[in-house]
Amino acid sequence: MKILVVGGGGREHTLVWKIAQSPMAPQIYAAPGNAGISELAQCLPIPAMDVDGLLAFARQKRIDLTVVGPELPLEQGIVDKFREAKLTIFGPSREAALLETSKVFAKDFMVRHQIPTADYSVFTSSDEACRYVQRHGAPVVVKTDGLAAGKGSIVAETVADAQAAIRQIMEERAFGSAGERVVVEEFMEGEEASILALVDGENYLTMISAQDHKRIYEGDRGPNTGGMGAYAPAPVITEDVMAEVEDRILRPAVCGMAREGYPFQGVLYAGLMMTKAGPRVVEFNCRFGDPETQVILPLLEHDFLELLLAVCDGTLPGRQVRWSSAAAVCVVMASAGYPGQYQRGFAIQGLGGPFAEDVMVFHAGTRMQDAQILTDGGRVLGVTAMGANVQEAVSRVYRAVERISFPGAYFRGDIAHRALAREERFSPDCVARGVGQDPRPDGRGGDSSHCSP
Ligand code: AMP
Ligand code: GLY
Repeated sequence: MKILVVGGGGREHTLVWKIAQSPMAPQIYAAPGNAGISELAQCLPIPAMDVDGLLAFARQKRIDLTVVGPELPLEQGIVDKFREAKLTIFGPSREAALLETSKVFAKDFMVRHQIPTADYSVFTSSDEACRYVQRHGAPVVVKTDGLAAGKGSIVAETVADAQAAIRQIMEERAFGSAGERVVVEEFMEGEEASILALVDGENYLTMISAQDHKRIYEGDRGPNTGGMGAYAPAPVITEDVMAEVEDRILRPAVCGMAREGYPFQGVLYAGLMMTKAGPRVVEFNCRFGDPETQVILPLLEHDFLELLLAVCDGTLPGRQVRWSSAAAVCVVMASAGYPGQYQRGFAIQGLGGPFAEDVMVFHAGTRMQDAQILTDGGRVLGVTAMGANVQEAVSRVYRAVERISFPGAYFRGDIAHRALAREERFSPDCVARGVGQDPRPDGRGGDSSHCSP
């Protein structure tokens, strides 16, 4: 079986790594891939955005399944084009991808289907948006309608900051035509978590919960990044919360998309805020999360390729998927200056370990030159470790990170701090003394569920 994975980051390395473990013994291609991926797959000099080039390759090689990593080719309609050419592809159509590619679409959709989310207003005029913010007050969140590489949402602490963000997006066009409309949204307070579900159009299968760390600095401060680390499962997602997320968010979203005429196929990523009033949607993404994938897939005890094919065939129902009872933690090693300006081309040392068992070094921005692996992006590596609990995974991951080096390497030292604090609070000692009690085991996802009206 021939598989093509589109993309070349840490998420795609993880996808390739997990697909390669399939008993179907797939032959894997990646476009464009990276130095780590090239150990498991043949990397092609085709950019992820070159939809026609990818289509020509898939036709010529008779690729059995194409898996799309990033959102941009989805917005370009890669899935529609492959399906027209009768090629099997994992990912949503351009219309279904609107859940991620247009914040206005996503917010209006959530209102139509009573999916809990922050109150919002949409503006096509920056003056009107600024006047609204003046009346509304701060904190408030300003969001670019279209894709903005993760930088289009600004949490403004003051009215002046919100108005400056509106002007940057709508007048200076910081994100081009993606800023023709803005969403101004109520600020939600709480802890965030990500729930990803495989969706075959009508049925979904939840994956283990995860939490990422979007801010660059420790203590979750500073500007947003693509993600500086993640861990799974997220203890904030108890079984009860998972059930609520399914009832109030996932099922209505999957059914709503099908009913509105654009059934969603692929992976639906719900970014959630656990507010006092329950889980509410911060955003939908229509692809695997990065770096959430680096902690979710290592915990999957099932043939991942078989699941991807089931999504494409519409045969998810009835599947029981097993998840490891371990915890996984991923620490991203980034170039100095990221998420701002940074340099590339530094040699990376220590990639050969030795590392403890259950440590995986996923490459994000790397390339090979003269048998040396060099840095080639803002996020360079995602180092993942598994452990019996978060504490063990954290110790293992940082021991591995300390062995790897490149000039200017930056990583956060506090990944999984919320889960660690909970583990401490809920350690057996504490429970015995009655200090705290973990109310329910974490929601580990697993059973496929049908979209019944
Ligand atoms: P988004 O682009 O919608 O995923 O937002 C990026 C990040 O901004 C989220 O992960 C949150 O940390 C924060 N954020 C977005 N919307 C809100 C909101 N309504 N209230 C609080 N924080 C938000
Ligand atoms: N980790 C956030 C994202 O993938 O959008």
